[in-house]
Amino acid sequence: MKQKIAMVDSLEYDLIIVGSGLAGLRAAIEAAKTGPSLKIGVVSKVQVMRSHSVSAEGGTAAVLFEEEGDTIESHIYDTVKGSDFLADQDVAERLCKEMPREVYQLEHWGMPWSRRKDGRIGQRNFGGYSFPRATYASDKVGFFEMQTLYDTCQKFDNIEFLNEWFVTSIIHDGQQFLGVTAIELSSGTFYTIKAKALIISTGGAGRIYSFSTYALSSTPDGLDMAYRAGLALKDMEFVQFHPTGILPSGILITEGARGEGGYLINKDGERFMKRYAPSKMELAPRDIVSRAIMTEIREGRGFQHETGVDCMKLDLRHVGDAVIREKLGAIREISIKFSGIDPAQEPMDIRPVCHYMMGGIHTNIDGATELKGVWAAGEAACNSVHGANRLGANSTSECIVWGKITGELAAKYAMNAKHSSQFPYHLVTLEEKRIYDGIFRGQGEYNPYEVRQELTDIMNEKAYVFRTESELVEGLKKLQDLRARTWKHVDDKAKEYNTNFTNVMELDSMFRVAEVVLIGAINRKESRGSHARLDYPQRDDANFLHHTLAYYDPKGPIMKKHPVTITRYQPVERKY
Ligand code: FUM
Repeated sequence: MKQKIAMVDSLEYDLIIVGSGLAGLRAAIEAAKTGPSLKIGVVSKVQVMRSHSVSAEGGTAAVLFEEEGDTIESHIYDTVKGSDFLADQDVAERLCKEMPREVYQLEHWGMPWSRRKDGRIGQRNFGGYSFPRATYASDKVGFFEMQTLYDTCQKFDNIEFLNEWFVTSIIHDGQQFLGVTAIELSSGTFYTIKAKALIISTGGAGRIYSFSTYALSSTPDGLDMAYRAGLALKDMEFVQFHPTGILPSGILITEGARGEGGYLINKDGERFMKRYAPSKMELAPRDIVSRAIMTEIREGRGFQHETGVDCMKLDLRHVGDAVIREKLGAIREISIKFSGIDPAQEPMDIRPVCHYMMGGIHTNIDGATELKGVWAAGEAACNSVHGANRLGANSTSECIVWGKITGELAAKYAMNAKHSSQFPYHLVTLEEKRIYDGIFRGQGEYNPYEVRQELTDIMNEKAYVFRTESELVEGLKKLQDLRARTWKHVDDKAKEYNTNFTNVMELDSMFRVAEVVLIGAINRKESRGSHARLDYPQRDDANFLHHTLAYYDPKGPIMKKHPVTITRYQPVERKY
């Protein structure tokens, strides 16, 4: 199957899926079912069970109990209101309608959902919802979903896994997708992977922030390869800060902790959410809770962690040992191991932490990008289901629903398409030069790990929960200066498992994508969802009820507007 072409080894698939998290695995299963004769490759820079989806904790949103009063309509409205009316409403509707079936599908594939006392699938409260609809499996939802999907993939002999392969670029002829270039990390060999169709499911890019719940591998290489290939990144200014990152690491303490009754407390012992969201309290949407925490801190009602960082307390003591043991076992272990606190005995020190990017590769409702033959699914995609603020538990749902949709569509497309007879090898040569001459042999003055730290600190300091023009502009200038000072320094010249080299490649993508986040945030002179501008504190529907698109240009992103689809609900003020 492996053939030598010019200097580069080459592989051929019908469909390749880049990224092996929930969206990628769900796509692989659907594609394999749709096209049993298709050869499907799932390419990932990590081992499958190291994909960041395994870290999802609290739940997967779906309406399961209409007979008890929940409705699809209410899930749609909660999602749209949570999004601060920037969600495309037809997309939100699709998510909510498709999701119940997927919960049962996962169950049939072996998902060990937690159970209610009556034996039915368990659901818990999550922020911004009118009904408990976060379907859970203790507080290890992502781990169990990943295991279920990965097991299911093993039933199909037309799915191959290329683990620890770093995809570098998309090859296309301006009209349609033709393949990708990639490095097999174990050997350091550079490959062309030809294919008829591509699904990008590389997850989010939250490691552009230093205080982050994401795996260290969650860098924007997938977004960046799409961006460099001419595809738009959409709504990148909307970065979600989860209210409860534990100090000092930033590891996620699930919203399920508040769903099970946890309180947020300021230094006066007050449940301060009563001032910000009296009807929902700790279970308001994340943007509102994170702003409340930062307001309390700014007004002097915060605590100081031993590291000197300002924080609030998350108190679970009254929830009780038994519930914590049964439903929140993983976060208890995290808290004990990473901060020395048993939450059954003592409150935890928490603070808002970068957790999710509402933005991503611009797609339509079917996950199709602007390039024929390319789809995107999961957090890497922006199909606009979450608008300016995602509700908790709607992300794993999105991965599963659009994994299925894109898997089916890409498979149908690949079944009817032909491999190109005119593969543009000159583009592969150019890519080899970009990587090996441009990056691998780079000898900048600066240590790339210090540069990465500086870059992520800039994002944390200048584009956090509250933003202002002057801070954002200063952040952008610092970022651009840092890049100009040259980040390219690869010390290790080994071929095999050269993580120094791949870290510098990741850093390259972080600069471009962080720049898009900052420019999008500067341009959006209003406050909407997760994007809170102290200098423009109101939402401004007259001027900013639109999505942001960013197209790559070597001189800097070209920014455009894109309309929001409003089908049922006119924007109103959000009150909780
Ligand atoms: O808090 C959590 O368990 C996170 C869930 C999510 O981001 O959807």
